[in-house]
Amino acid sequence: MGLKKFAAALAFSASVMTAGIASATDLEVTHWWTSGGEAAAVAEFAKAVDASGDHWVDGAIAGSGDVARPIIISRILGGNPMAATQLNPGKDADDLIAAGLLEDITDVATAGDWAHILRPASQLASCTKDGKVYCVPVNLHSAQWMWTNRKVYEDAGIAPPQNWADFVAAAPALQAKGIQPLSMAQGWPVGLMVNDVLVALAGVENFVKVYKDRDLAIAGGPEFTKVFDALAAVRQYVPADKMVPQWNEAVGLVIQGKAAANIMGDWAGGEFQVAKMVAGKDYDCLPGLGVTPVLNTGGDVFYFPKNKDPAVTAAQKKMAATLVTKEVQVAFNLKKGSLPMRADVDLSAANDCMKKGLEILDHSSAVFPNDVQMIDRDSLNQINDTFTAFMADPSMTAAAAQAKFVDIIKNAPK
Ligand code: GAL
Repeated sequence: MGLKKFAAALAFSASVMTAGIASATDLEVTHWWTSGGEAAAVAEFAKAVDASGDHWVDGAIAGSGDVARPIIISRILGGNPMAATQLNPGKDADDLIAAGLLEDITDVATAGDWAHILRPASQLASCTKDGKVYCVPVNLHSAQWMWTNRKVYEDAGIAPPQNWADFVAAAPALQAKGIQPLSMAQGWPVGLMVNDVLVALAGVENFVKVYKDRDLAIAGGPEFTKVFDALAAVRQYVPADKMVPQWNEAVGLVIQGKAAANIMGDWAGGEFQVAKMVAGKDYDCLPGLGVTPVLNTGGDVFYFPKNKDPAVTAAQKKMAATLVTKEVQVAFNLKKGSLPMRADVDLSAANDCMKKGLEILDHSSAVFPNDVQMIDRDSLNQINDTFTAFMADPSMTAAAAQAKFVDIIKNAPK
């Protein structure tokens, strides 16, 4: 640690100690972690904040990010801010930062040497605007996973799939036996699945060229046509009346053996753990849908809306530092299904899925940006709506879905 950093660390721990002497400060924390696995994980954060001398006041918002994000943002804009809030790394907080509504926590980041300790660099970069740090990244969550129930396949006399092609090949036989080959939830989970299939079958490079560089030739070209055609062929396995409202219900169908597979982010792993199922024995998790092992840099971050009370500001900064301590990172991420933000932690208790994720993380070429790091949320919502309509309505052709997709990419603000 250089002299400058050492001085910053000293000043920071002095301010934390002063805050520690004062009585516990209530911190209302909003998040959308309400499924079984998510609740188990966030309880680790609450425990750590309470242990640090402050008091976590839980502000869980049911119904996942789509519901929670607008509530969170309008509360901050409307002058009724919480002390801390979950959001995803990306563009969601840009307007709040521009309006000067979020606390600058650069001092905490400098004191904790986050630039060197936290990885991958994309997550801290997402928190940084004009050289100032506004959020603390707490995990790396990737969306490209297929989850399968081994017993369901084995009972049907089929080898558990190792990739998307195996999954597609096994689907008719499962359906003939009255087993739902694929479970799906309405809304953003459909978008997530379509994007995963795009990445798996058209390749990461093409996916990034479309979402980041807005390459319309690729978006409308044969590589993507192939994927829309592949999706048209599987939508018969999840007719609209079989789609469930929430992502964790769709994962639950796989856990209960009522469906064979689901495509969902690695947070699904938390649900399997709560159900006491063992990765590699009871279920499989296939990164990159088993086609190419890849991870995107999704995840979660916490922002701290500005507060006039200096005790709250001090407690907010203490919370930011607490969430990335080694012990808290391990306890939280083991339950969440995500990868910890730091490499210098004890991961001896990691399950198979986390091990697979960590291995991919070591090969940086297999790590690519999260969609909301490349494109605005409005455009993403339009893409989700288009993909949902396409998957739920067999009369919508692959060509029509692709044309609509190209149009949204074309009009997305740069
Ligand atoms: C994501 C979030 C994850 C997970 C998921 C489903 O936005 O990053 O932590 O909880 O939503 O709720």
